[in-house]
Amino acid sequence: MKKLIIIITIILSFLLITGCRKEEEKKKEPIKNNSNYNSLVLYFSATGTTKKVAKKIAIVTQSDIIEIIPTEKYKDEDLNYNSDCRANREQNNPKARPPIKNTIDISQYDVIYLGYPIWWGTNPKIILTLLDTYDFSNKIIIPFCTSGSTDINGSVNDLRKYNPKLTILTGRRFTTDVTTKEILEFTDKELNTMKVKINDVEYEMTLENNDTVKELMNYVPFKGTMQELNGNEKYLYLDKSFKTNSTNPKRINKGDVMFYGDNCLVLFYESFDTTYSYTKLGHIDNLPNLGNDSISIEFIR
Ligand SMILES: Cc1cc2nc3c(=O)[nH]c(=O)nc-3n(C[C@H](O)[C@H](O)[C@H](O)COP(=O)(O)O)c2cc1C
Repeated sequence: MKKLIIIITIILSFLLITGCRKEEEKKKEPIKNNSNYNSLVLYFSATGTTKKVAKKIAIVTQSDIIEIIPTEKYKDEDLNYNSDCRANREQNNPKARPPIKNTIDISQYDVIYLGYPIWWGTNPKIILTLLDTYDFSNKIIIPFCTSGSTDINGSVNDLRKYNPKLTILTGRRFTTDVTTKEILEFTDKELNTMKVKINDVEYEMTLENNDTVKELMNYVPFKGTMQELNGNEKYLYLDKSFKTNSTNPKRINKGDVMFYGDNCLVLFYESFDTTYSYTKLGHIDNLPNLGNDSISIEFIR
């Protein structure tokens, strides 16, 4: 009897230890990048706050990281915003474009996480030097900032106005204690979802991860009228041909958003089997039956 108790105790201890180890292994799993994009964290930081956030974003998103270094370093007196300091003079001068010391190669990246501190409600002028110097067309720019309290929206609007051709996503303000979870949620929302307004009701489209979607991100924002077809779909021919890769999905699901050919955008509001080929762009959950009429559609950044 004693022997049996000892054997049972040994077996139970073994199970407990291996169980705990599995939990430990789970916790130690490396963080997975939530996109297939080749990404770069590119940031300017005068006093090191944005730099800390930039480093965290680079680790979590498995991105390369490059600092935008001003030719003339900002000294303490240049940043004393209660005086007529250099930073204030630059921010007040629409023509100021402080030169950048280092050469930056952005050619190999699809996504640029662009970081900066907020100066007087907007981006430091050196960010405009950056946009003037390098070609950001066909890049997806995801801005982030640090600040005393001001959010990122004003600076994002200013950057979009400065060059309306650029794809600049919503962006977010972070503090240096930002967590891995917050960064992953942020990048997931930015890269894997898109807002779509149908008859003025806003929906979230979950995006596929393919080259056509990358191209679509650079085409947004746009709006138009989609025509009715067959009691199950709405379609709209866009004014640009996309690089597509059509396959037969066999089954169409209500809420699927696809390209038919290289420029016909199709939104399905019924599920059915199909023999046609499409390039899938994404999916909208909770899409209602859209009825027999044409609909207004707007893709928003
Ligand atoms: C010239 C100047 C203007 C600033 N303007 C603002 C502002 O409008 N709103 C705000 O919340 N913080 C403002 N700040 C604070 C910075 O945004 C904040 O300290 C930032 O985290 C610094 O980042 P860094 O260390 O990467 O340079 C300003 C700082 C300076 C130097």
